[in-house]
Amino acid sequence: MDRNAYLNELQERYTRAHPNSHRRFEHAAERLPGGGSHNLRLFAPFPFYEAGAAGATIGDIDGNTYIDFWQGHFANVLGHNPAPVIEALRTELEAGRGLATGFPERHQGELAELILDRLGAERIRFTTSGALATMNAILLARAFTDRRTVIKIAGGWHGAHPLALKGVHTYDHGLGRLESAGLPESADTEVVVTRFNDSAALEQTFARSGSEAACFILEPMVGSGGLIAADREYLQRARELCSRYGVVLILDEVITAFRFHAGALYSLYNVHPDLCVIGKAIGGGMPVAAVAGRSEIMELAAPGAPHERAVKFDGGTFSGHPSAMLAGLAFLKHLVAHEHELYPHIGQLGRIAREGIEERFAAYGLNARCAGDASEAGAGSSLVAVHFLTDGAERVRDPEQIYDPKRSDPELRDVIVKLGMLNEGFFVVHGYGALSFAHTEEQVRRSLDAFEQVAKRVSS
Ligand SMILES: Cc1ncc(COP(=O)(O)O)c(C=O)c1O
Repeated sequence: MDRNAYLNELQERYTRAHPNSHRRFEHAAERLPGGGSHNLRLFAPFPFYEAGAAGATIGDIDGNTYIDFWQGHFANVLGHNPAPVIEALRTELEAGRGLATGFPERHQGELAELILDRLGAERIRFTTSGALATMNAILLARAFTDRRTVIKIAGGWHGAHPLALKGVHTYDHGLGRLESAGLPESADTEVVVTRFNDSAALEQTFARSGSEAACFILEPMVGSGGLIAADREYLQRARELCSRYGVVLILDEVITAFRFHAGALYSLYNVHPDLCVIGKAIGGGMPVAAVAGRSEIMELAAPGAPHERAVKFDGGTFSGHPSAMLAGLAFLKHLVAHEHELYPHIGQLGRIAREGIEERFAAYGLNARCAGDASEAGAGSSLVAVHFLTDGAERVRDPEQIYDPKRSDPELRDVIVKLGMLNEGFFVVHGYGALSFAHTEEQVRRSLDAFEQVAKRVSS
């Protein structure tokens, strides 16, 4: 394959089809670093600008429409702009309510009750982003244990803050580097990185650092690190080790909560964390995230906490924003009420996508392996990532495998296949993305035909 020739052709076609977006991007790039406020959205040659989105579909300002598998960074379990949320917000706005007032908001308690009930947790505090939530969960763990070390997994993304920006995706004989300039030195010394799904390595990490560790933070399915589910045995070992060493187990479920059933993924593993972080789906399309967990830890955020242990999980002009709380409540109530029809359906679509993508690429001699499967937790899964494994491996086990340039080909996935799929009318991220209840089996099967077209060009 002449990759460059195919890529040039794709970029030219894309540029021709998006003149208005091109102009808008050039204007934005003179004012915003890189042209926007979230790097993943700024794909080359330039992103298109949304003009309206409904269900599975997104339209742009040049009149193109796409079947979207990105779905609001995986948040939109019901598809774009779902009726239960739009209706609730419309009623509220028409009544002249819904914007920030700075007073306690009346839906917050009900949303808290619903989430706590589904998670089996005792207390919850809301904030506006997953990054703020994981940062505060870590601060709570440090205050509670009076220890400083944070253990995280290689490839774990918990948002951008000083206590989580080590060993995320920069590969340097492994994943263990600091990911940002400007961090305090403690960002390196106080954060210890361990390999995902490797129980022996975890035992060693705890033997070395467990007695100084405040917390072990990980996702039960690593998201940005490849959509790789934890082995059941690994997660159970994590729980045991945390209990043995007095370390707070924080499960980051920003992606996974309400994605596999109307609750946390950890319930399906039967592993209970001390603290859990949730986000994305819980806002129904609005910016909501939260920390939930054991009351004796969570209460350190309350106004009356003893001064030496009080955690400043505080402020946040827009925390508990009225429209966000209302949207989250309308959305989660719908997910709970329709749990038994919704999750089996999107899980089945995920399975069709994962199996079909592997088959279509294999027919053209390409070793595409799909992650996102959650059978280890006994669940169907609507998440799909594609990894082109150049080392011939049949399964993705840990994030190192996909960030190691000797073992995987992310450029093929994130640049060529991405533009190739756009050219066929599908928006994919990390190879595919997330199915929603608005997607149909016919759309998923069409996406497989589109992959086949791309595979044909890539392998020719
Ligand atoms: C597992 C996980 N934790 C935390 C975050 C950070 O959330 P936010 O982008 O809302 O700050 C993300 C974002 O994608 C995530 O995937």
